[in-house]
Amino acid sequence: MANMQTIASARAHSNIAFIKYWGNRNQALRLPANSSLSMNLAALHSTTTVRWSDELAADSLAINGEAPSVAALRRVQAHLDRLRRRLGTDLRAQVDSRNNFPMGAGIASSASAFAALTLAAVAALEQRLSERELSALARLGSGSAARSIPGGFVEWHAAEAHPGSFAETIAPPGHWQLEDVIAIVSRQHKGVGSTAGHKNAGSSIFQPARVETAAARLKQVKQAISQRDFALLARVVEADSNLMHAVMMTSQPALFYWQPLTLAVMKAARGWREQDGLRVCYTLDAGPNVHCICVADEAPAVAERLRALSPAIDILRSGVGGGAVVLPPSGASLCKGESATCPLSPQITLPQHSAACTK
Ligand code: DP6
Repeated sequence: MANMQTIASARAHSNIAFIKYWGNRNQALRLPANSSLSMNLAALHSTTTVRWSDELAADSLAINGEAPSVAALRRVQAHLDRLRRRLGTDLRAQVDSRNNFPMGAGIASSASAFAALTLAAVAALEQRLSERELSALARLGSGSAARSIPGGFVEWHAAEAHPGSFAETIAPPGHWQLEDVIAIVSRQHKGVGSTAGHKNAGSSIFQPARVETAAARLKQVKQAISQRDFALLARVVEADSNLMHAVMMTSQPALFYWQPLTLAVMKAARGWREQDGLRVCYTLDAGPNVHCICVADEAPAVAERLRALSPAIDILRSGVGGGAVVLPPSGASLCKGESATCPLSPQITLPQHSAACTK
């Protein structure tokens, strides 16, 4: 009897939020408490290959060529279960996921990883889903992964129900030449991950105030992006990051992600803007590293100033990235056949008959 095996690879970029996602109205479905907005990071990406096969007894996962933790494997298996239900298959999957940025650099990989996993899993079964559905599906694996499916500057809609909570592009990558100059102040793995943090967000008395006012900030950031108004962007992005960290610090138990150097970089970035006129502002994720968002022309100056601030700071730089794409097949393990168009990247072709290979 013919063996069923089908394979595809996809790449998705990491993203940095200008308006943050923190706290869910439905934790299991990762329906966020508020809508958020981010920029994809061209230089930071995950590449994931999914091989569905009836020869596999169980799902397997390798991250950067190594066996994952039990928790990481379980999280990916749970996502594969959701994908199996949606795609109508009971095949098991072999998943190989690689990040081009150093693990343990404090750069979140769940967004790019779950976006790439979702797209590769769907493409391998030659199914075509809309960008919206791919984004909503990726969200079930990691909330911020919803924003790594579309390209450029992206808004993720908070919604009452699963299919309505997806992300979409509000401006393409070329709309505004911004850069993220990331000051890595600590390489330590964070003690409390985002998923646990989201669950505790409601224990802060500041969370309702943050959520109630998030829509107004999101509107201002959309206006700043559409008019390429850096002063407005800087004011709102810094305020939103401060508000999220105020919620974190006042949650029970309290979450302190900042290191002394984190605060030094935040104050310096603000000073470079207010005193020296550099178009730069800071924003932080659930960790101590500082994302210095700046106009691309000023990124070299920002990087130089960060280096001068402390020899302990490492730097990663990235411009605005595109959306998730299916990668051309490497060929060897796929059947030859006619080609079909990739659901997200019409310029890329997929093998038509890879779903039923006979070895
Ligand atoms: C602080 O998407 O990593 O980076 O849904 O549990 O995977 P899970 O959380 P995650 O949370 C990201 C939180 C944040 C802010 C943001 O990116 O909006």
